[in-house]
Amino acid sequence: MEKRFKVLMINGSPRKSGNITLAFSEMKTVFDGLNVEYEDIRLGNKIIRGCLACETCRSTGKCVIDDVVNEIAVKFEQADGLVIGSPVYYGSANGTLMSALQRLFYSIHFDTSLKVGASVVSARRSGCTATFDELNKFFTLSNMPVATSQYWNNIYGWDPGEGIEDDEGRQVMRVLARNMVFLMESIALGKEKNGLPDTEDRVWTNFTRQ
Ligand SMILES: Cc1cc2nc3c(=O)[nH]c(=O)nc-3n(C[C@H](O)[C@H](O)[C@H](O)COP(=O)(O)O)c2cc1C
Repeated sequence: MEKRFKVLMINGSPRKSGNITLAFSEMKTVFDGLNVEYEDIRLGNKIIRGCLACETCRSTGKCVIDDVVNEIAVKFEQADGLVIGSPVYYGSANGTLMSALQRLFYSIHFDTSLKVGASVVSARRSGCTATFDELNKFFTLSNMPVATSQYWNNIYGWDPGEGIEDDEGRQVMRVLARNMVFLMESIALGKEKNGLPDTEDRVWTNFTRQ
């Protein structure tokens, strides 16, 4: 049977079987049951440098550093939903993921409107909500509705895979995945029935000056 939607899942952890991987696998069981296609890319073990602010992407629509970020951009354009997952590092999203996301969202020129976003974080103890807010900011300036769950999307654990003990966190991930699919479905139906919302030519000021 043809899959209904495509979700791209970007995992910022460098650990192969870490807690973000575990959170993603909870979501994947739901996606499997609801006939949703997904692709999972782990970035944390890659060498990804930050944005050079060279502005080359303004004319090319892709990052001048031609690495996995440009590969992700192609997949993101085709996806209906994007999940980003980060371990908390010093109360923040991890550096490798942030380097990738900042370059990705700055360089792409395609329309991200109404692609559904979801953020997932893992921590030993603290910094989850700050990291969650940090990740959601990529969606909330990109016309991307954010899927939520019955709690903020955290899973707790220190050692790789320790989050298996966090029953509540794992349930939050499953509910999140179901809500995400519902949102993608509702948006698809809405688009079919009403089309996309009207757009406006973009006003761009720095801070108030043209
Ligand atoms: C460099 C580094 C910094 C960390 N900083 C925090 C932190 O600020 N708060 C916290 O609760 N856990 C912190 N941790 C623990 C990780 O967030 C935790 O082990 C998480 O579950 C890792 O996810 P993963 O298994 O998907 O990589 C840190 C771990 C590392 C390696």
